[in-house]
Amino acid sequence: MEVKVKVQDLLSYEGDALVVNLFEGVKQPGGATGAADKALAGAISAAIRRQEFRGKLHERLLLYTFGRLPVLQVLVIGLGKQEECGVDRIRSASAEALRHLRQAGARRVGSIVHGAGAGGIEASQASRAVTEGALLGLYRFGKYRRASEDGERALTQLTLLERDRSKISSLEEGVRVGRILAEATIFARDMVNEPANALTPSELAARAKKMASGLGLTFKTLERADMKRLGMGALLGVAQGSEHPPKLIVVSYRGAKGKGKGPRLGLVGKGITFDSGGISIKPSEGMESMKGDMAGGAAVLGAIKGIAELRLPVDVTAIVPATENLPSGTAQRPGDIVKTMSGKTIEVINTDAEGRLILADALSYACDVGVTHLVDVATLTGACVVALGSVRTGAFANDRELMRRVQEASEASGEKLWELPLDDEYGEQIKSDYADMKNVGGRKAGAITAAKLLANFVGKTPWVHLDIAGTSQAEKDHGYCPKGATGAMVRTLVALATGFAGSKRK
Ligand code: BES
Ligand code: MN
Ligand code: ZN
Repeated sequence: MEVKVKVQDLLSYEGDALVVNLFEGVKQPGGATGAADKALAGAISAAIRRQEFRGKLHERLLLYTFGRLPVLQVLVIGLGKQEECGVDRIRSASAEALRHLRQAGARRVGSIVHGAGAGGIEASQASRAVTEGALLGLYRFGKYRRASEDGERALTQLTLLERDRSKISSLEEGVRVGRILAEATIFARDMVNEPANALTPSELAARAKKMASGLGLTFKTLERADMKRLGMGALLGVAQGSEHPPKLIVVSYRGAKGKGKGPRLGLVGKGITFDSGGISIKPSEGMESMKGDMAGGAAVLGAIKGIAELRLPVDVTAIVPATENLPSGTAQRPGDIVKTMSGKTIEVINTDAEGRLILADALSYACDVGVTHLVDVATLTGACVVALGSVRTGAFANDRELMRRVQEASEASGEKLWELPLDDEYGEQIKSDYADMKNVGGRKAGAITAAKLLANFVGKTPWVHLDIAGTSQAEKDHGYCPKGATGAMVRTLVALATGFAGSKRK
């Protein structure tokens, strides 16, 4: 979809439909909404008076103009209470409004910049949020469906209408940034939605390579032989059950001005292209969703794409250990003991706890190549879904300052997270009789014991672990996340890198 900014009066817009908004509790609409109300002979204020429309968040009022305006329809979208208005509400209101208008058959839509007026949000921030919400909310993964009547409905153009010429360049800057962030997220979503027969480890690597070469980033993969040479027994153990060769994908972006002086951010993402559980096989119900077990890997690749397109002055390396987890005659067994790149051994009690195994070696590798700060993203545990549902990502840290930065980034992007503890006592649960540790810690605190295992492989490097098992896929359309892959944490990681940009090494 094309998004543009135009100096124009709302009422003279000649596309298919217009979007205006209303804060909850406003009795007499003012500004652009007031102007639309007048043009429509008081239809909006009448609906408010009759309490048919209150302006609650995501509430909609669709009106036909009957020739009173050049457009066919006007949609009023509720923004909720004015004092609660923020950029994330703007994103989701923009998404809900445009999805509704697409359903109503609109192709070309004009919109006011939600939040920039009475919402009190700075112009570029508001236009960025409207753009992010629009592109993310209209996203569909339709490549395997014959075009249905519904699928053919496409909203192809969004025009942000603004009368004040002095605001145009700020608005355009917001649109530019919003598009980069949305496209980075969509890059990740497309990979997560792709079925595992199409998105093999090699295909994941091929998409990373294509992205990297398009942006001038360095790209390499470690092959099975390289992993053997480096002693990555944990990653190789998971991979040995699959016919598809594993790949360790490494993409680097050098944006910092000084030579190697600033921070170097390492982003590690779990890349299990299908998780059957292995010999500890999962129940078949719902197993198809395990095609998305590489969402962490997709998130870090999406993030580095966004970071590079924004040309942020910071060095970033994205690392994705990619493999399938399948049962077969060559698969690893419960009871097997694997030796990691770090030299530490792990007893594999349950082959379905494979994410922490491949991440153990990938985190060691990241520390080896010299990153100064580490964030990993992984669909790691069902226990995290039990604890936080699909509302918040679970976060864990060995460093307060990095956790604070990640929290700040999460708030700016509207991707909620919640910190869980890493007390020493939890480490007891993963002590093994035969190896340095075991890969499961019993039923209690499963998200935490998984994170405790990872902590053994980051040394003293400041590290944050993000468990996106509950947030990487949406069960139904919600705001700017349509059903399916959400692209969770892509925008948070870009915001984190933005925070690092220009900061001194500590
Ligand atoms: N990929 C799963 C975790 C998961 C569960 C992601 C649900 C998304 C939705 C992970 O590899 C896994 O199987 N974890 C096991 C660990 C257990 C065996 C200790 C789990 O959480 O059940
Ligand atoms: Mn598993
Ligand atoms: Zn998994």
